[in-house]
This record gives sequence, structure tokens and C-alpha cells, in this order.
Amino acid sequence: MKAATWQGTRKISVETVPDPTLQADNDAVIEVTSTAICGSDLHLYEVLGPFMNEGDIVGHEPMGRVVEAGSASGLSVGDRVVVPFQIACGRCYYCSKGLQTQCETTQVREHGMGAQLFGYSQLYGSVPGGQAEYLRIPHADYGPIKVGEELPDHRYLFLSDVLPTAWQAVAYAKVEQGDSVAVMGLGPIGQFCARIAKHLGMTVYAIEPEADRREMAARHGILVYEPGEDSVAAIKDATEGRGPDAVIDAVGMEAHGDMQGAMAKFSQLTAQFLPKAISQPMMNNFGMDRLSALYTAIELVRRGGTVSLSGVYGGQASPLPMLTLFDKQINVTMGQANVKRWIDDILPLVEDPTDPLGVDDFVTHRLPLADAPAAYEMFQKKEQGCIKVVLDPQAPAQA
Ligand SMILES: NC(=O)c1ccc[n+]([C@@H]2O[C@H](COP(=O)([O-])OP(=O)(O)OC[C@H]3O[C@@H](n4cnc5c(N)ncnc54)[C@H](O)[C@@H]3O)[C@@H](O)[C@H]2O)c1
Ligand SMILES: [Zn+2]
Ligand SMILES: [Zn+2]
Repeated sequence: MKAATWQGTRKISVETVPDPTLQADNDAVIEVTSTAICGSDLHLYEVLGPFMNEGDIVGHEPMGRVVEAGSASGLSVGDRVVVPFQIACGRCYYCSKGLQTQCETTQVREHGMGAQLFGYSQLYGSVPGGQAEYLRIPHADYGPIKVGEELPDHRYLFLSDVLPTAWQAVAYAKVEQGDSVAVMGLGPIGQFCARIAKHLGMTVYAIEPEADRREMAARHGILVYEPGEDSVAAIKDATEGRGPDAVIDAVGMEAHGDMQGAMAKFSQLTAQFLPKAISQPMMNNFGMDRLSALYTAIELVRRGGTVSLSGVYGGQASPLPMLTLFDKQINVTMGQANVKRWIDDILPLVEDPTDPLGVDDFVTHRLPLADAPAAYEMFQKKEQGCIKVVLDPQAPAQA
């Protein structure tokens, strides 16, 4: 089969690799009909490179049709399923608490990490990913979400990651109807954090440098701003000078911004921690995250409010403004989304004919799998209005 593979920093290529096969009774294999590129894939593309092997199949947002079903998979050939990005058993201590990303059956203990993820480096088990013609699904008796036949793929596909991630970010922000929320970053995750918060009755502000991403959010009733001191001041003004009840960081470790400026604000602390950060042994390739969006979130949120991180941070040595966090009495929540925990809340919304989350206005590019290398580049550079790319492994490669 054909699959998108990691070949080095900023190098994805489509290669011919062996077809996946069933390896356990509760496995299934699907033929992939749609498979998206995620902001998290860009971390593999660059910073998580040290944990990738040449030839690893990437991708963790797939859906498709079952072509082989293990005897204990509970699935049948022909079932249409969406596959959550994490692999969980559904039966262990953590799965029963709705913490499927910490599943004790699939935890990658050798690296001290949580549940295995599809296509996401040695840290998460080196499981072949879903940007491919076929995908083997371990623990298929629990993970895959069976969906109906009527609606097009793009209505269901984002149950794999984006929608539950955004839903969890809002849930963890501990806000309710009438509260105010600011979203940092309007990539795919921020788009839906903002729309979900709006749908649940909050006033939503968002900060994003790219004009086309701001425009998309504005179409869904979000109050949008460019990064900078003026925007922070404007959002504070709009929230009686206090700042919003919660700020969701949907940027992650590749934040663009004035790191020097942001860090100078917390100079006492950073001066203390920087040399140590640089000398951290294990993660010397990316020990220090680019935290400018997180710093803005901490500055912006009202006293006693919540900063909910859905953007992925990978550093082990990031200097944090502990003084400000402590003094403002800020709650900080974070983590990979526990996909299955939120599906019952989200599925009725994506199937609703009125499309309350605006899923029909989200995918900017649908391309053949063969175009994956160019699609990664376009998404990373935010060219051609690219916000969300879906790859179609069934479409013929264009000449
Ligand atoms: N928690 C989870 O389970 C989970 C799941 C999926 C993705 N993620 C993470 O969420 C983050 C966002 O993912 P995405 O797919 O939307 O990716 P993305 O890279 O397209 O989105 C990030 C957005 O932040 C904007 N941005 C950069 N610097 C900024 C700044 N200083 N202020 C405001 N905005 C800024 C960028 O222009 C971009 O639009 C990534 O870190 C990704 O790894 C987490
Ligand atoms: Zn993803
Ligand atoms: Zn489990």
C-alpha cells in the first residue's frame, strides 16, 4: 500500500510499504477513506524528530471502512468507523475514569508516557499511523466509533481528534453559559474551541496572527484580534478590566511571537532557570518551548480564572512565571484529549442538519494522499489559505 512516511526533519514522503494485517483477535484493518493532517503532526515534522525513525508511517486522524475484522473486534467487514488518535483498552483503571489517554494497557512505560497514539513517535509506541491506504487498529473492540452512511466523511472525521480535543479544552476551562473565554490560536483546534464555547453560550474572544484564520472564526461569531499588547488591553477592557474567565491555549510549542519581550517580563524567574534549561540532558533538542502564547494567556486571564492548555508542549525545562501564576491564583489544566469520553456529547452535533458547530466550513483542502509532502509544507507555512487538510487515499494521484 501507499503511506505517508517520516524521512527526516521537514521531510515527508509517500512510499510503498507492506499492507497491515490482523495481529490479535481484537484488531481490525480499515481501508482509509479520509485522513487529516494535524498541528500535532508539525511537531513530528520538526521538534519531535529525535524520537522518529525513518520510514515511520504518520497520521492519527483517520476514518474508513473495515476490510478485516478480528473475531473479538466486535466489528464487521463494511462497517464505517472513525478512529480515535489514542489507543485505549476501555477496561482498565484509567479508561474507566474517562482518562483514555492514560490507558494502563497501552501506556508506553519504557518512555514514561501515557497511552499509545497512532503515528506519533517512539514516545507514543511507534504505532503505524493513518495517513495510508490501510490502517491496523489495535483494541478495535473499544476505540473505533461506528457512524452512519448518510453524511459525508468530513462531518464525522474530526471525531478522531479535533472535536474531542476542543471539547475537552472547553470542559477543562470550567466555564459556563454567560462566561467569557479567550482562545489563543485559531488553527484547527482553536477554531473548534472557539465555536464550541460560543455554542455553549459563552462570549468568545480569539487571538491569531493569520488573517484568513481570523476571518473563518469571525464567520462563526467569534471576536477576533491580532497578537499584541493592544489586543490584550482590548479584551481586558471588554471584560470589565479583569480579563476573561478562562483562556484556552490552542497554539502549543511552536508559538510565534516576541519571546524576548515576553520573557523579559518574567526576567527574575527566567534568569534563574535558563542555564539549567539549556543543559537539560534528555531533551536538549527541544528542552525549552516557545512559550509566548502561554505567557499571554497567563497575563490575560482574570484572577482566579483558568488557563486550559490544549496546545502540545514537549519541553522538560520550560521556565514558567510561577510568581504570576501563584499571585493571580490561576488554575492550569492540560492534556491530550480523552476522545471516547466526549463522543456522546459531540456526535449529535455533527449529525445535526443545522450543523451547529459549522463543520461544513472547516476543511480548506482535500487532496490525494500522494500530495502529502506538499500538503504538509502548505499547512506549516499557512499558504493558500490552508487551515485544515484532508488527504484522500482513494483518490488517484494527480499528474
Ligand atoms: N491536547 C490534544 O489532545 C491535542 C490534539 C490535537 C492537537 N493538539 C495541539 O493543539 C495545538 C494546535 O493545533 P492545530 O492543529 O490547531 O495547529 P496549528 O499549528 O495550525 O495552530 C496553531 C495556531 O496558533 C497560531 N499562533 C502562533 N503563535 C501565536 C501567538 N503567539 N498567539 C496567537 N496565536 C498564535 C498559528 O498562527 C496557528 O494558527 C498544537 O500544539 C497541537 O499539537 C493537542
Ligand atoms: Zn491531531
Ligand atoms: Zn485502558
